[in-house]
Amino acid sequence: MKLWGGRFTKETAEDAAGFLGSLSFDARLYRQDIRGSIAHARMLGRQGIITPEEAEALVRGLEEIRAELEAGKLAFNPDAEDIHSFIEECLVAKVGEVGKKLHTARSRNDQVATSFRLYVKEEIEALGDLVLRLIEALIGRARETSEVIMPGYTHLQRAQPVTFAHHLLAYCEMLRRDYERLRDCYKRVDVCPLGSGALAGTTFPIDRQFVARELGFGEISANSLDAVSDRDFVAELLFACSLIMMHLSRLAEELILWSSSEFGFITLDDAYTTGSSIMPQKKNPDVAELARGKTGRVYGHLMGILTVMKGLPLAYNKDLQEDKEAVFDALDTVKGCVGVFIPMMETLQINEERMREAAGGDFTNATDLADYLVRKGVSFRDAHGIVGRVVLYCIGTKKRLEDLTMEEYRSFSQAFDWDLYDFIQIATCVGRRRAPGGPAPFAVFQNIGRITSWLAEMRQLPWKRGL
Ligand code: ARG
Repeated sequence: MKLWGGRFTKETAEDAAGFLGSLSFDARLYRQDIRGSIAHARMLGRQGIITPEEAEALVRGLEEIRAELEAGKLAFNPDAEDIHSFIEECLVAKVGEVGKKLHTARSRNDQVATSFRLYVKEEIEALGDLVLRLIEALIGRARETSEVIMPGYTHLQRAQPVTFAHHLLAYCEMLRRDYERLRDCYKRVDVCPLGSGALAGTTFPIDRQFVARELGFGEISANSLDAVSDRDFVAELLFACSLIMMHLSRLAEELILWSSSEFGFITLDDAYTTGSSIMPQKKNPDVAELARGKTGRVYGHLMGILTVMKGLPLAYNKDLQEDKEAVFDALDTVKGCVGVFIPMMETLQINEERMREAAGGDFTNATDLADYLVRKGVSFRDAHGIVGRVVLYCIGTKKRLEDLTMEEYRSFSQAFDWDLYDFIQIATCVGRRRAPGGPAPFAVFQNIGRITSWLAEMRQLPWKRGL
């Protein structure tokens, strides 16, 4: 059944209908579409736009359709244009003539925007929950590894020693921002467009507040033209998803590097790796790699929607139908990636010895030696120069800073004294970095405490604002 056959003298060409249709992907909006229609029907009845009995019949019919779809007793008709026309068609088939009254004071343009927003709201909550669970998993590993020393890098060159826990907590901060972005984006999604009609509202005495309240929206949209053509929330969500993917991709890259024999810092659990069809010895970090790869398609969806929206005149244009596949695929992808990172992070094995060994190489304590001279009254710039020459000498003589004799040290500066040996021990170097935000176990535990109470607070915080 077409919703608009009247003014046409021809059927839509078969190929055009196939091209225009969206049921193949928007069928997943059936629950949200039915919810929106039930709220709309109730409102029509309360306002006397249809009779209470008619409203009751519509609501019952819609509830039955939902139950049948859920039980798999009703199949999606592939010829339907989209989920909205399909449900209306089913309703008319089920309840007869009265079914044709459902679309009073409504257009598919405000209908689709409403269904889509309801869907996105649920999905943001689900994704937010997964992000919190990943943070929790990282915190769990950080608790065990506050004393595990590893080299921190700049330019992928060993720089200064840090703790593994501190490295994990860096990802917690990224994910915390991601979570807050989702919360923030949610506010813009939580706006009910129903009642905006095709573009210019309606002549019927509708009650928009009632509908929004029924559907659990925080507010109603303020401008009918904007309401049916606004997809800012899609771009925002896809940006939030893109950043989550970027963060996962950076973590993935580190897991891949760390699990190589060259690093050997971690061993991924067998359950999150795969083998090779030809090389019997191989164990590959495929899960991490695929997550890194999937980042590309999520970025692609962001660029896609920004381009779809660019230059679109007000109000609704069919171009907007392109919003759905982008969002569905991005959300499926991000949820899948975050979901698999949780157990992968929980199960990976930490090779403490290898990390500590690497942290002790390449003069990662050279900055500390310079700091030592500063404490003895040398200016930092001079200290930097002196230690640079000491390092050069060590490279030439194949020694570590710890191996030089006091005589050798004194040949570079009289400010060196016996207490330097303790000062430049790797564990001492890390332990001293205890100011807030630092890698020392003390600072790490402060951070763990802070993030743990943040987690508890976020779990308590309701998503819904209500009307
Ligand atoms: N399937 C359409 C979409 O996703 C529903 C709105 C159709 N409205 C229209 N005027 N063609 O955007």
